[in-house]
Amino acid sequence: MNIQIKILGVSGSPRKGATQYCVREALLSATDISGVSTEFIDLKGKEIHPCIHCNRCIKEQLNYCPTFTDNMRDYYDIILEADGFILGSPVYQMNVTAQMQAFLNRLRPLGGYITKGHWATKVGGAIAVGGTRNGGQETTLEALDNFFFCTGMTVVSGGIFAYNGAAVWSNDKKEQGAKEDNEGMDSVRIVGRRVALIAKILKVGLANLTEPIEGAILAGFSNQKELDRRIEKFVHR
Ligand SMILES: Cc1cc2nc3c(=O)[nH]c(=O)nc-3n(C[C@H](O)[C@H](O)[C@H](O)COP(=O)(O)O)c2cc1C
Repeated sequence: MNIQIKILGVSGSPRKGATQYCVREALLSATDISGVSTEFIDLKGKEIHPCIHCNRCIKEQLNYCPTFTDNMRDYYDIILEADGFILGSPVYQMNVTAQMQAFLNRLRPLGGYITKGHWATKVGGAIAVGGTRNGGQETTLEALDNFFFCTGMTVVSGGIFAYNGAAVWSNDKKEQGAKEDNEGMDSVRIVGRRVALIAKILKVGLANLTEPIEGAILAGFSNQKELDRRIEKFVHR
């Protein structure tokens, strides 16, 4: 069976620096796993308006944001097609950049796919790049991992010695700084390979199941009725 896997990498830096390099390196390592292709979204220079919670995407049941015709429009289909995600952000005040936060918040139109079980078989891995050695990489990784948790995705770590993702110290020297952080870059490559491998195992496993699993079960409910009751209770349109 020839199953193709698509891994999407996103760099949340507003410039060509260390993060872009790290995400590209993770994607390169993802292709160590056979059958894997990659796509890269660079948020540098992109116009992404912050979410204003108008809820039009939910009320009108759209899988895109109808309020702003900015660069976000280009991404919804790519995101829905991906099997695994590598999110990389510079550390800004021990958190993700405004660009990354706006990007993640604007994925609200795809929230409905949680109840379809869509995200349950997707995989996420995180990379945080700080200018200081201990400048908040862990808290930034947590913010990125929390996005994955919100969707119900499976989250991979940065390996045995990098528990919640890849923490890189750029020493404020852009790409060159990241290159000099050997341990950080090892974790970056591990995140790339692990996202691809687990995404492949999940996709191949799903395709080989003798009985197809409906979305409600993938989302963790015992049946569709139980899920419908929960939606009724928690989703206010
Ligand atoms: C507004 C701002 C806030 C920053 N805050 C932090 C921080 O809290 N901790 C840290 O280690 N580095 C911080 N930095 C430095 C960047 O995280 C660091 O240079 C990073 O490698 C930039 O990534 P890039 O080269 O991909 O743009 C900050 C930089 C800026 C511009």
